[in-house]
Amino acid sequence: MARTATLNIDGKTIELPITEGSEGELAVDVTKLRDQTGYITLDPGYRNTGSCVSDITFIDAEKGILRYRGFPIEELAEKSSFLETASLLIHGKQPSAEELNTFVNLIAKHTPVNPGLLNILKGFPQEASPMAMLSACINGLCGYHPEVLDIERKDFDETSSKLIAKVRTLAAAIYRHSVGKPAIEPADIPGPAKAGNYTAKFLQMMFGEAPKPEVARALDLIFLLHADHEQNCSASTCRMVGSSHANLFASCAAAVCALWGPLHGGANVEIMNQLEQIHKDGIDPDDFLKGVKEKKYRLFGFGHPIYRNYDPRARILSKAAEDVLASMNVSDPLLKIARRLEQVALADDYFVSRKLYPNVDFYSGIIMRAMGVPTEMFTVLFAVGRMPGWIAQWKEVRDQKGKIYRPRQIYTGPVNQTYA
Ligand code: CMC
Repeated sequence: MARTATLNIDGKTIELPITEGSEGELAVDVTKLRDQTGYITLDPGYRNTGSCVSDITFIDAEKGILRYRGFPIEELAEKSSFLETASLLIHGKQPSAEELNTFVNLIAKHTPVNPGLLNILKGFPQEASPMAMLSACINGLCGYHPEVLDIERKDFDETSSKLIAKVRTLAAAIYRHSVGKPAIEPADIPGPAKAGNYTAKFLQMMFGEAPKPEVARALDLIFLLHADHEQNCSASTCRMVGSSHANLFASCAAAVCALWGPLHGGANVEIMNQLEQIHKDGIDPDDFLKGVKEKKYRLFGFGHPIYRNYDPRARILSKAAEDVLASMNVSDPLLKIARRLEQVALADDYFVSRKLYPNVDFYSGIIMRAMGVPTEMFTVLFAVGRMPGWIAQWKEVRDQKGKIYRPRQIYTGPVNQTYA
């Protein structure tokens, strides 16, 4: 017999269905609650609210487990590439060699961006925020590709690979604009269209020269680790916008804006600023943490809305930071400072009692900095990596054919005022 929860309210008893996920997660289904009782549930910040059922990503926040489509993140990090993982997320299964080849070739085909859009980019001030330029340009793509406005189109592979391809070109062009250099024509970039080459070509479009293989691999790993993270702020934004039947590109442009904030993807900029400040001003990391505990400021790259354990992505990146810097012969004092901050924090009751651990942003910036990526670009790179996740989330909303997302509220403002 199907399980239910019993709710007693105003002398009335109702049965609420229980939904169980494939990993044993349990939810009380309240979709009929208001109809049956007149009550709604109240959960500001949605920490107890499942906004959907989803087949894409599983997180066990207490144990620090992350899996894309059932595959442990550690295994994908070791064996897969960003594009293969993107295909896995979007299509729901590990691609065959032939399917992956088709996907990679589509991305190669769609890499050029219309010169008109690159001209719009040139109109931005050089010092404009790269995230402002990215979200504007992704929306701008709709103007040059009106076919993406038709959300019923059957060839979703064309639409999704177009976005994954063009966001790379745009991100590189945004970087070059911000340093006063012209965009590099993607057609000029030599090399075969292989899954592992997505990142190498991206770095080439940014810096104008082929990166060392280990550098390209490290950025590929960063992209892969950022590729999805279930119902976070930007993915929920993407789903919310998509639920109104807005097209994929518009929904992802909105997700970029959600990612921008320092409590979400923008944290990778903030932690780098904090590490640089500690280094430049010669602040003792232990003293810096005293200010955190006195709540003068937060330690960015630490804590997470749901993880109550070490973020598995941070664990992988912590090791990768060491390896990448060694392979590049780079010695960065900021890595030493980050290690000290982590060591002290993880032994301190303030962080231990609140279950605050390093998150994905804590070490990613140190790796990107070693590659020569300026801090202001960090969140743009996060967005490039997160694109497959947003695409998969948007597609799932479309496939589920659900209702437009529309939470309710409890109104607490003035009642029945008289107009003077
Ligand atoms: N530094 C210092 N104290 C913190 C931090 C931090 N980074 N994070 C949480 N706390 C404290 C907070 O002050 C509060 O203390 P108290 O109980 O005394 O009031 C307690 O921990 C719970 O904090 P909260 O704000 O209620 O927790 P939250 O779950 O809403 O916050 C968070 C999650 C990620 C916004 C927060 O941990 C934070 O601001 N971290 C820094 C920003 C950051 O690194 N964000 C990236 C998140 S991971 C990448 C991504 O997916 O975007």
